[in-house]
Amino acid sequence: MRKIIILTIMVGGIFLGGYKSLKLNDTKDDIDQKVEVLLARMTLEEKVGQMNQYNGFYDATGPAPSEGDDKSKFEHLKKGWVGAVLSVRGAKEVHELQKLVVEESRLGIPLIFGLDVIHGHKTLAPIPLGEAASWDLVAIRKSARMAAVEASSVGVNWTFAPMVDISRDARWGRVMEGAGEDPYLGAKIGVARVRGFQGDDLAANNTIAACAKHFAAYGFAEAGRDYNTVEVSTSTLYNIILPPFKAAIEQGGVKTVMNAFNILNGIPATGDEFLQRDILKDKWGFNGFVVSDWASIKEMVVHGFASDLKEAAMYAANAGSDMDMESYGYVKYLVDLVKEGKVSEDKIDDAVRRILKVKYELGLFDDPYLYCDEAREKEMLYHADHQEAALDMARKSIVLLKNEATTAKGKLLPLKKGKKIAVIGALAQDKTSPLGSWRIGSDDGTAVSVLEGLKKYTEVTYAKGADVVLGEVDFRLEVNVNNTDKSGFAEAVALAKQSETVIMVLGEHGFMSGEGRSRTEIGLPGVQQELLEAVYAVNKNIVLVLMNGRPLALPWAGENVPAILETWHLGTQSGNAIAQVLFGDYNPSGKLPMSFPRSVGQCPIYYNHYSTGRPDVAPDVFWSHYMDESNDPLFPFGHGLSYTEFEYSELRIDEANSAEIKISVVVRNIGKVAGEEVTQLYIHDKAARVARPVKELKGFEKSSLAPQESKTITFALTENELGFYDNQGKFVLEAGIFDIMVGNSSIKGLSGSFELKL
Ligand code: NOJ
Repeated sequence: MRKIIILTIMVGGIFLGGYKSLKLNDTKDDIDQKVEVLLARMTLEEKVGQMNQYNGFYDATGPAPSEGDDKSKFEHLKKGWVGAVLSVRGAKEVHELQKLVVEESRLGIPLIFGLDVIHGHKTLAPIPLGEAASWDLVAIRKSARMAAVEASSVGVNWTFAPMVDISRDARWGRVMEGAGEDPYLGAKIGVARVRGFQGDDLAANNTIAACAKHFAAYGFAEAGRDYNTVEVSTSTLYNIILPPFKAAIEQGGVKTVMNAFNILNGIPATGDEFLQRDILKDKWGFNGFVVSDWASIKEMVVHGFASDLKEAAMYAANAGSDMDMESYGYVKYLVDLVKEGKVSEDKIDDAVRRILKVKYELGLFDDPYLYCDEAREKEMLYHADHQEAALDMARKSIVLLKNEATTAKGKLLPLKKGKKIAVIGALAQDKTSPLGSWRIGSDDGTAVSVLEGLKKYTEVTYAKGADVVLGEVDFRLEVNVNNTDKSGFAEAVALAKQSETVIMVLGEHGFMSGEGRSRTEIGLPGVQQELLEAVYAVNKNIVLVLMNGRPLALPWAGENVPAILETWHLGTQSGNAIAQVLFGDYNPSGKLPMSFPRSVGQCPIYYNHYSTGRPDVAPDVFWSHYMDESNDPLFPFGHGLSYTEFEYSELRIDEANSAEIKISVVVRNIGKVAGEEVTQLYIHDKAARVARPVKELKGFEKSSLAPQESKTITFALTENELGFYDNQGKFVLEAGIFDIMVGNSSIKGLSGSFELKL
């Protein structure tokens, strides 16, 4: 108490220079006190200003705003009515804007500069769904670190990532931005990403604040249509949707959370007090700040929840949305709402405290230009170390889906070195598409194409076959899929006819997934399926290299094509990574983080579903099934092959200590080459007060094994893994029988069971 008073008096005496005076006797411990001192000096208008975020002056990542022209934005910046901006970048540009605010506004409170740094800045790692397929938390953390190092060099100190939305629907274009369908894997990956972005010292000039988004349930948009309403059960909310957010906060220490566009139980997430105050801030003790999604405050009017923007601002502020991104609701109405007694000043103070605290933690009060070093910017962009990290991450993200012996030749992969190969598909020569979606800061044409990668190994003949899209592609506009032009088919077929092995690079353009990119058909877009079948008719030795931002439904390829390699959109080093895997210089080890359906009609399809009352095949029709398709996915969650083989044995369950049940298994590399294997542990709680899914991932470990080498892997199941949330949101642990399965996918492994006695 005494300390606070002394500090206040001291600062009070020399405050005219704004926050800069607060630098005296700075230590990290007294951030809270400094926040209080500063808060006490702020007018209501300045407080509300901190809660206002504007888009920069280019690159809108949402619908063009109907208000807030550049001139009025500048006026607001000078008055200190803006707390953060987004999409402004460049060491020089950021410096200029920061200077304007620091020097011209009364208190000179620095801005935070946010950007969607989703899988890199200039140097791009694979799309997040691809990275998730590595199941490699160290590599994923490193990849986020690399992204932070590059992004921070252009003045950015806040990323709107990671997206920790769980999603089960491949129609939703934003599955590319998350970690897939599983909350356990999703939570671990979310934490790794947060730690990578934020590093060990947030005040360093190469670390940036992360943002867990979109709180909550955005990944469950009905029918996979982006921005759509969400219908989920309480049990799904507590057990599937919320855990990755909780982990990002409690284990990752994420500094910010973004709320969501969707309605849940009739309440837009942005105006949802239960989500933002009761759960996030009160129950979980989150002490960073919540930013709205782009115009999501304003959209509460369109949702039919608020009658006008003023009421929307009131609901959002009361519900705990601390910062308004591009709705203009706070800056316009929040001061009046406080004066009218509709929003308490305490709530405003709470929001501003949180925002200022993050600014202090970022080191912005010590040096507002910390992230604006033009020399560092020059050095860091496309840095050689980043290329290495991106290549490593890209290789680790590749999943070998299928590699079957063709009658004549044995397995097609890995390819024999030195042999001439034929390559077909427009994506093979594309240097932009492999960069994927959500890459605001990057440059088109900077990916190593598959052709370029392959040419480093061997002589290549190439035919495009067919374009995937027609015309220019822009991340803000609809893509124009090529549904008609087959003029290149004849050349491709002729090439295939005279070749031994054909690599077909097919899939989605990089901007066919991401925000606003939902699809109702998730096969190969346009005429590519026809191209594949035309080539197959003359040469069956096809290696299908898939590039896509979501699981695709490819039953024909699954049935007929002997080798299929899933390469997502792998980023800058795409072609190099793909070539190294195709030629066996890198043994693939990725595992699917999302089920690949056989048909879009199966969506949403996910491994951790409940059992129906009628799961078993019956001679009559009265069991849970489709008339025209199997219930199973084409490729299940956790699936991924290697150029070697792993054998599992000696499953042991040690239940002597019910507080920690130990499961061990021996995994052996029984093939001829070294490889990495992701061993996965699944549980099934056989009977519970709230029914549990048929399988739940509760442990995984990646090991690297030389030929004939074996390793014992041990997992510990504690209350954390065996318990669940009941429908009141209470975490409970129940005695009873648990089945377990340990193996190399969600459908293959050794099984056993134990009884949990409490
Ligand atoms: C809308 C997206 O939903 C969100 O994820 C993103 O961070 C913002 N736009 C800012 O670009």
